[in-house]
Parts: sequence; C-alpha cells; structure tokens
Amino acid sequence: MKRIVVLASGSGSNAENIYHFFSKGDFAKVVAVLSNKKSAKVLERADRLGIPAFYFNKTAFCSEEGAIKLIRALSPDLVVLAGFLWKIPEFFIKSFPNQIINIHPALLPKYGGKGMYGSNVHKAVKENQEVESGITIHYVNENYDEGAIIHQSKTTLLPADDVHEIAQKVHLLEYEHYPKVIEHVLKQQNGSQ
Ligand code: GAR
Repeated sequence: MKRIVVLASGSGSNAENIYHFFSKGDFAKVVAVLSNKKSAKVLERADRLGIPAFYFNKTAFCSEEGAIKLIRALSPDLVVLAGFLWKIPEFFIKSFPNQIINIHPALLPKYGGKGMYGSNVHKAVKENQEVESGITIHYVNENYDEGAIIHQSKTTLLPADDVHEIAQKVHLLEYEHYPKVIEHVLKQQNGSQ
C-alpha cells in the first residue's frame, strides 16, 4: 500500500478529505499528519480519525537531524502539503525528489509567492475583480509556488462573490481534485496505471 504523509498548518479540511478518499480502498493510506502549529485544528482532526499526528517547531523542521528523520522513518511514497505554510528546505526536497506536492488556492503563476496563502490569495483575487479563480497542484521546488504544475481546475466568479464565497468555491475544487491527483501521481510512480 502506498504511504502518504500530510503536512498542514491550519484547519486540515483537505487532509481529512484525502484521508477519507483513500480509506475507501487499499491502494494508499495517510500514515501520518504533521503540523508546524501546536494548536492547528488538523492535529485534532488527525487524533479523531486515528491518524498518527506530530508537531514540530522551526528548528526541528530546518534541521537535517529533526523532523525529516521522522518523515524518512515513515517511508512515504508521497509527501502532501495541504495548507502547509512554511517553505520546504532544500535538503528536504533533495531527500524526496518528485515526491512532494502542494495545492495552491489560485491559478498559478498568478497569486503565488511568499505571503500568498489562504484568504490572502482570495482577497487579492477579489480586489483584482477576477472573473475566475481555481486551484493549482504542483511539485514542490526551492521557490514558493514555482514547481512543475501537475493539475489546474477553474471556477467562475461572480461580481457579487465575497472573499468567503471565493474561498468556498476554491475549497470545493480542492476536495474534488486533490485526492484524485494524489492517486494519479502515486500510480505514475511505478507505472502501474
Ligand atoms: C487550502 O485552500 C489550500 O489550498 C491553502 O490553504 C488552505 C488550507 O485549507 N494553501 C495555501 O494557501 C498554500 N499556499 P484546509 O486547512 O482546510 O485544508
């Protein structure tokens, strides 16, 4: 069975959705959830779902002797960022080549980069009166939101949509597509499609 490790900083609704998607079959499973925020709701969700959950601080995350040792010990086939807000250190990326993916709540290359996360993204989209937004799922490289794009989906925005409604539309796309894209990437790893 393929092994997924999820990194998340916030609510974790994507983490939970991914967990439920793979719980239905025996192709892959979420083996652990890690967060850089002790109070993150994602850690509560993981506890409730019976997924091993871990917290790490910045020192542990940025040290080659820290969180990465735990992640290596979990033998992930894929590290999935689901609302994870720290930049991934280079040694981490090198340790998992083509095995770290992220979801961004906009149509990259628009609205990406440092500070562009969660509602900041939706606020900027609203301010610019965009008529559409969407999601981008991409491999992670050394720069924020710049790795190779695997998948994008769009949603239409109405002038009356507020930031919250834009976020909801984008979240719906995330729930629909992220698990399927994860499955696709995992299947490609050994050509078992
Ligand atoms: C998601 O919308 C995800 O795309 C975004 O954070 C949200 C997490 O929601 N990620 C970023 O902004 C990364 N730059 P969740 O905690 O409910 O899954």
